Order: sequence, then C-alpha cells, then structure tokens
Amino acid sequence: MKIVVINGPNLNMLGKREPGIYGSETLDAVNEWLAAEARALGAHLEFFRSNIEGEIVTAIQDADSYDGIILNAGAYTHYSIAIRDAIASVKTPVVEVHLSNVHAREEFRKKSMIAPVCAGTISGFGKASYKLALFGLIFLEKDSNSITIK
Ligand code: DQA
Repeated sequence: MKIVVINGPNLNMLGKREPGIYGSETLDAVNEWLAAEARALGAHLEFFRSNIEGEIVTAIQDADSYDGIILNAGAYTHYSIAIRDAIASVKTPVVEVHLSNVHAREEFRKKSMIAPVCAGTISGFGKASYKLALFGLIFLEKDSNSITIK
C-alpha cells in the first residue's frame, strides 16, 4: 500500500507551536515515527506539507496513484471549500486527521468543511491520530465490505 500524508498550514511549527495542545515533537520526528510504524504494517508512506491552500489542492488531485491520503489540513479544515472539492473530485480515500480534539476546543474548530467528503475522521490522539488513520485506510483496502461514501 502506498499512502501520502499531507500536512497543511502551521504543522511545520510542531514542537514550538502551543506544545500543550500539539505536543513537543517536531513534524520530522512524527513523520519518521509514522514511516517506521507504516513499514511494520507493510505500507509505504510519502509526505507532503504546505502552508498554501492551492498546493494542498494540487497534492490531492495528484494522488491518483496512491491507495489513500492521510490529511491534516490544519485551519483550512474549517473553511476551505477548495480542499473539500478536491477531495470530492478524487477516488482515493481521504482520512481527516487532527492531533488535538477539535471538538473540545473553540467553537469554530467544531465545523469541518472536509469531513462530509472524507472516508472518516480521527481527532484528539496526538501523533497516534495519524497511525489510527493508517489503520483505517488498511481496513478500507482489505475489507471489500467496508462502508465508503464514494
Ligand atoms: C489541527 C486542528 C486545527 O483546528 C488547527 O487549525 C491546526 C491543527 C490539529 O491537528 O489538531 O492547525 O488540525
């Protein structure tokens, strides 16, 4: 299985950014950990990160050859119709991921523009949210009876 992990705005600031909410590990450390966890599960990960909405749209459009997308769209989650439309336009299943529990935070974080067009959402488990998303994609791939919305 080949999966692309897409991280959006401000996730390059992990480690420095509000560590009480997002933890003290850098994005590189999280990615390294996740790549090793994926290898052990027989999956190959590639990583893309950008602060720019259009670049995230393009990365989603270009993910045809992947079996899945793990997406932490950061703040774009809450208002980007362009990212939502990109997800809806591809067949590759997308799992929405958040390090923090967005439902336990500010009101504006409770709204996700992308959730309705994603295969599922994982929120609130720190870096383990990415691994749980990976499990979800492996399950979707292996179980032909899984429920998908696309
Ligand atoms: C986040 C949650 C978003 O609300 C926020 O804007 C982020 C990170 C998370 O991983 O918890 O940038 O996606």
